[in-house]
Amino acid sequence: MTDNIEKARKIIKNNNIDNYTIPCKKLYPFQWNWDSAFSALGIYTYDKDRALLELDMLFKGQWKNGMIPQIIFHRDDPGYFPGPDIWDSKTNPKTSCITQPPVVASIVWKMVLLGLRKKEKMEEYFKKLFKYHQWFVNNRDPYKQGLISIYHPWESGRDNSPDWDNTLNNIALKPVFIDRKDDILIDEKMRPTNNDYNKYMQIVYKCKELDWDNLLIYDKGLFNVCDPGVQFIFVRACKDLYKLAIFLKKDEYLNTIENWIDRYSDGCDKLWNSEFNSYTTYDIKENKLCYGVSCASLLYAYADVGSIEQRKYMKEHSNRILRHCNYLFPSWDPSSNKFDKKKYWRGPIWCIINYLLLNGFNNIGDTYLADKIRENTIKLIDRNGFFEYYDPINGKGYGGNNFTWTAAIYLILKEETLNQ
Ligand code: GLC
Repeated sequence: MTDNIEKARKIIKNNNIDNYTIPCKKLYPFQWNWDSAFSALGIYTYDKDRALLELDMLFKGQWKNGMIPQIIFHRDDPGYFPGPDIWDSKTNPKTSCITQPPVVASIVWKMVLLGLRKKEKMEEYFKKLFKYHQWFVNNRDPYKQGLISIYHPWESGRDNSPDWDNTLNNIALKPVFIDRKDDILIDEKMRPTNNDYNKYMQIVYKCKELDWDNLLIYDKGLFNVCDPGVQFIFVRACKDLYKLAIFLKKDEYLNTIENWIDRYSDGCDKLWNSEFNSYTTYDIKENKLCYGVSCASLLYAYADVGSIEQRKYMKEHSNRILRHCNYLFPSWDPSSNKFDKKKYWRGPIWCIINYLLLNGFNNIGDTYLADKIRENTIKLIDRNGFFEYYDPINGKGYGGNNFTWTAAIYLILKEETLNQ
């Protein structure tokens, strides 16, 4: 075992609370949805039972209506804002009231590919995952347009991306209760601004005022956007859920899931900005496409959507981005004036996105790019340690250190390399 594999396992073990893993001490002291899914897969490389417990703890937070929340507050911790009291979920365990990119079905399917055969557990997970996907369809696409809405930038998992700038600019600043802790822990140059936080909290308070009623929020909330990241991840997750249904002989579910795959794959076309020739974010409230290429735009390959022509344009974008960076894959287009190599989701590299991207590029046969991203990810960690995110120009690590999902991705990639 190399030193760094050992180190990665140690980081994950140190971030263990009660059979769930927090993303990073102090900075993120609870269980996060997509963090935990990736952590579970990383843990699966060395402790299969513990990996399933991670997922069990995640599903413990699932709401009766099927939503799996962004954060599960299994226990209190005063060091994070906004905490359980602000969300006031009235659930047990307490949770935030929004979700995150639904990677979990794909993670479970990946575990099956790696040998998971616990029939009862798989059946249980399948039902919970189906319910989660059904929640998305019923609540985040009420008019069946083939577009999954997010109601908060935090639901994209790419909190501070320039993708949300236009929409947030439409919200006027006003005094709201904010008690940030993140900017005490991390250099503020790397974190969202106070104005960003003002808007984030206004969106939360407005949703609260609307009683977290998804249909009301769709029409009356402050933020209703289709994020290509969530849309593409959802399409891929439906495809993986379909494979799981076949594997478990759940024939009665196949038609429904197939309809979802068709509807949401077709919907991706509405994210195509033909003036800009890229998949972009679409502001549903304003009926406006955004003008930026983000790492999420490139996840079309992960969903395996797009015509030959669209793929050709996307390839041009990725080639251009490649030329501008020493390390892949930046979260925002380096030729845009909004690119900031240090700032949260406005330039730096996230290893979990790299993992999705390299899977996507392998999917569509672009093994050159997939291999490059794989090598870059391992190199970044080997040279700089297990940070939350990395500088695409000089490779420096930023944000939280000893970060769980970075360690998890390292373990997954190393295991895949060994088995190649
Ligand atoms: C930040 C990230 C989000 C992640 C969370 C915990 O909020 O933007 O994607 O889930 O941190 O790591």
